[in-house]
Amino acid sequence: MSGVGGSGPDGRVSGASTVRNGDEGGGMSGASPYRLVGARPEPGFEVRVDGRPVPVVPGQTVGAALHAAGIRTWRTTRFGDRRRGLFCGIGVCFDCLVTVNGVENLRACLTEARPGDEVTTS
Ligand code: FES
Repeated sequence: MSGVGGSGPDGRVSGASTVRNGDEGGGMSGASPYRLVGARPEPGFEVRVDGRPVPVVPGQTVGAALHAAGIRTWRTTRFGDRRRGLFCGIGVCFDCLVTVNGVENLRACLTEARPGDEVTTS
């Protein structure tokens, strides 16, 4: 399928253009999001989270980098010590709070990671 995106008879959403980057006819298997959109991200970098290096793709939020690194929770609730991390992912729930470079109570899902950031969790 080519041209403007839409959904086909099988209900799958199609892209806005033809398949590129050698993914012709291969279906979805093995197709990464980068390949699907033809992205060429700049070189990655690291931030430090509680002293540990965490890789970041430029443009990722702190929350996305943590999630990609397999870190699903990074704080607990005041009452009950329940674990929290990304929940809504859009800045509404405040479950993902972190401290970045000494600035407290930032929502990880909305805070873009920058090279050299020092992230601390509670
Ligand atoms: S995950 Fe809900 S505000 Fe960040």
